[in-house]
Amino acid sequence: MQCYLTDGRGLDTLRLADRPAPVDLADHEVLVRVQAVSLNYRDLLVADGRYGGPQDPPIIAGSDLAGVVAAVGRHVTSLKPGDRVVNAPFRCWPAGSLRRDWAATFVGGQGVDGVLAQSVVYPAAALGICPPKLTPSEAATLPVAALTAWAAVVTHGRTRPGEWVLVHGTGGVSLFAAQFARLAGARVALSSAHSSKADWARQELGIEHTFDYRDADWPRDLRRATGGGVDVVVEVAGGPSLHQSLQACRYGSRVAVIGVLAGTESQINVFDLIRHQISMRGIYMESTEEFHSMLSALASSQIRPIVDRVFPWSDVPAAYRYLQAQQHIGKVVVDVESGHIN
Ligand SMILES: NC(=O)c1ccc[n+]([C@@H]2O[C@H](COP(=O)([O-])OP(=O)(O)OC[C@H]3O[C@@H](n4cnc5c(N)ncnc54)[C@H](OP(=O)(O)O)[C@@H]3O)[C@@H](O)[C@H]2O)c1
Repeated sequence: MQCYLTDGRGLDTLRLADRPAPVDLADHEVLVRVQAVSLNYRDLLVADGRYGGPQDPPIIAGSDLAGVVAAVGRHVTSLKPGDRVVNAPFRCWPAGSLRRDWAATFVGGQGVDGVLAQSVVYPAAALGICPPKLTPSEAATLPVAALTAWAAVVTHGRTRPGEWVLVHGTGGVSLFAAQFARLAGARVALSSAHSSKADWARQELGIEHTFDYRDADWPRDLRRATGGGVDVVVEVAGGPSLHQSLQACRYGSRVAVIGVLAGTESQINVFDLIRHQISMRGIYMESTEEFHSMLSALASSQIRPIVDRVFPWSDVPAAYRYLQAQQHIGKVVVDVESGHIN
């Protein structure tokens, strides 16, 4: 079986390797023939050693798969060969709050093998049925990006119709957040450093307000444009952006702190939080229970994941570099099937 390995010492060290195909399944495990894998900003961090440091020994890269069940363990009743599945990003986080032992089961980092492989063994309880209308490339975008957006907008954001939701940039998490916000009947403000991407988001996703996050005055302008501020923030940038997003909030808003695109250190004005009674919550994806809820919502919605580009199996390093260049809109995907021999 072919797979891509990373040792966390830089993108240049990402390499194609052969590993024995998995054979023995434990009672509650499933063998998945992988069709597609989507890449996340996190995968860049892992390959670069900025997420858990060097991986010694090297691990299989990647976090998000869509595939077909090839075989099931003796006690698996929820899935059967032929089912199309996607993986929850934690091999074990059934429901409720995350625990330390479950946190160590996040795939594709911190010593845990990922899914950028032709076959993957996964616990049956952490697999969900793929929404039928989605292609493998579309379905592969759901595990990390869509679940994180769902956690921010739905699970913890509790977004209501008519509210304003702020998302930053046109990457994977943000565009899913914009789509879930629209599904909830909310209005969306989106920032981008590219006017062409902002125009695309207005036309294709019904985004009402766009601005450039590099403009220093954007929080004031956004408060004006939204008649007092936003209700929900999907903060994927961190760093100085968190302080600015808090300034764009109205009373009682909910801020999901998710990412570090602008840095890991933030200086915030405590009075911004106090005066406006803002709730801030760190998001680290969500449980399998929430993953199933999200898959049900997607199956009955018109939402289609935004796939920017699909790379063949032979071009995985190029796919990583393309994601790193931040020219994409939405998600970057690897067609794993293109590497299967039959
Ligand atoms: N905590 C969690 O559970 C969790 C889960 C998933 C992701 N994350 C984190 O969330 C962040 C986004 O992940 P992703 O996979 O969606 O990334 P991505 O697809 O690579 O998104 C990159 C986009 O973000 C925008 N961006 C870049 N720098 C920015 C800045 N300083 N301020 C605002 N926007 C900026 C750019 O959009 P434009 O080109 O339009 O400007 C860029 O194209 C990462 O930090 C990732 O580690 C966290």
